[in-house]
Amino acid sequence: MSRRQRQMRALVILLVVVLLLAGAVVLAQQLTGSTEEAAPAPASPSAAPEASVVEQPPVLPPGSVEGLVNAVSSTASGDDQRYASTLEIPSVPGFGEVERAVLDQQLDAYEQALADAPDGRGSFDVASDVVVAAGPYLGLRTEIFASVGGGNGIVTTTTTWVDTQRPSVILSPDLIADPQRDALRALVLAAIERDRPEALVRADPPLQFADDDLLLDLRFADDGALLVVVGEDSGAIVSAAGPQTVRVEPAAAERLLTADARRIAAAVAADESAVPLPAPEGDDAWKLPEQRAEGVDCSVERCIALTFDDGPSQYTDRLLGELAEADARATFMVVGRNAATQPATVERAAEAGHQIVGHTWSHPDLTTLDDAGILDEIERTDAAIEAATGEPASALMRPPYGAVDDRVLGVLAGAGKAAVLWNVDTEDWRNRDVAETTRRAVEGAKPGAIVLMHDIHESTVDAVPGIVEQLRAAGYTLVTVDELLGATTPGAEYFHRP
Ligand code: NI
Repeated sequence: MSRRQRQMRALVILLVVVLLLAGAVVLAQQLTGSTEEAAPAPASPSAAPEASVVEQPPVLPPGSVEGLVNAVSSTASGDDQRYASTLEIPSVPGFGEVERAVLDQQLDAYEQALADAPDGRGSFDVASDVVVAAGPYLGLRTEIFASVGGGNGIVTTTTTWVDTQRPSVILSPDLIADPQRDALRALVLAAIERDRPEALVRADPPLQFADDDLLLDLRFADDGALLVVVGEDSGAIVSAAGPQTVRVEPAAAERLLTADARRIAAAVAADESAVPLPAPEGDDAWKLPEQRAEGVDCSVERCIALTFDDGPSQYTDRLLGELAEADARATFMVVGRNAATQPATVERAAEAGHQIVGHTWSHPDLTTLDDAGILDEIERTDAAIEAATGEPASALMRPPYGAVDDRVLGVLAGAGKAAVLWNVDTEDWRNRDVAETTRRAVEGAKPGAIVLMHDIHESTVDAVPGIVEQLRAAGYTLVTVDELLGATTPGAEYFHRP
């Protein structure tokens, strides 16, 4: 044995002795319970932590709560595209105000960022979903995707809680008892630090959080656990990591929640079925129109097609009433998620002889999606239309913002779809004015024209009776896009009758 080997053996023996001694000391401390420095939080994997990072929970499918109404708005000015599809609860006064306050705040931030962006390019997309429907309680998540200057954008989510029976509306931070908010924030940050350290912003000095930060998007799991979704704009999350969801175990959640919040958690845990919402007002006002004569020949008659984009919305039922009154047919370019939320409106429109055409599931600029994303937008929308109408979806589609390129048209060709654009733009979303919308529709009219309007604006619906009357006085027959175009070619673009 060399000198070096002897030294190594001595070292190993010494190490074993030290470890044995240390083990004996720890054992003795545990037996006598005398450890003063024992960690307060369980650090070993055998004891489950109170909070941990989990996958973001899914939302409920659109249409799973009856009586919700879409409020849709869409504007585009140059490179600034904005689209919002939120949910309204007409039977709960005050819900709209709370929701709008949240949205206005985010829109202000977006507009400020846009003003600072060198190229003035941006998009602002809002979508609402139901996350909880249990007993009288509804949890609605509003997801905002804001992108400025061609950047990757930021996703912000907030959840709003409604007791539809009392009725009352609160935001997520108010689910947590005030003195407990600091404790919850600490629990959440510690969980991300431990489970997903790369997602956490480390600042020196450490980040300070205001009352609501980190607690804007709370949910409940089936077993009574509290889920905290920390968004990219909270200041705590590295944006590229995306929102992070922290699950707080039921026992820990229990001591953080207010009495109201505990009732919601209990209703979710008990899997209570949702109390139905009252039908929206004005539901009875609409009646089926008289059956129309078939067989319009647009090669002979002065045909024109009115098209209504982005709905169905809270105004669509009234529009259907106006069209029935005027015995006029039109084409509805529906957003899939809105159709899935208000299937009864889509069904009525189809039964009344209007044409239903898909306008994508979530209203993206299709040129920004990959091929699979484009197909997904189209197929989900078709499924929603087929479910609502019981009829196969149309061979047409309308691209949001009229945005297509050769690649998008290639994907449409593969999906058997032609793109329907327009050649008369009422700019109703910009003017929001009955007289101006009417003037643009009537003065722009020509035989074979496709007129662009949106059934998400009250002023547009108000303008429709006058537009129909004046177009008829000028000798026009109002037809659907199918009647106007006849057979179409997949992958082709149509701005008017060929
Ligand atoms: Ni649109």
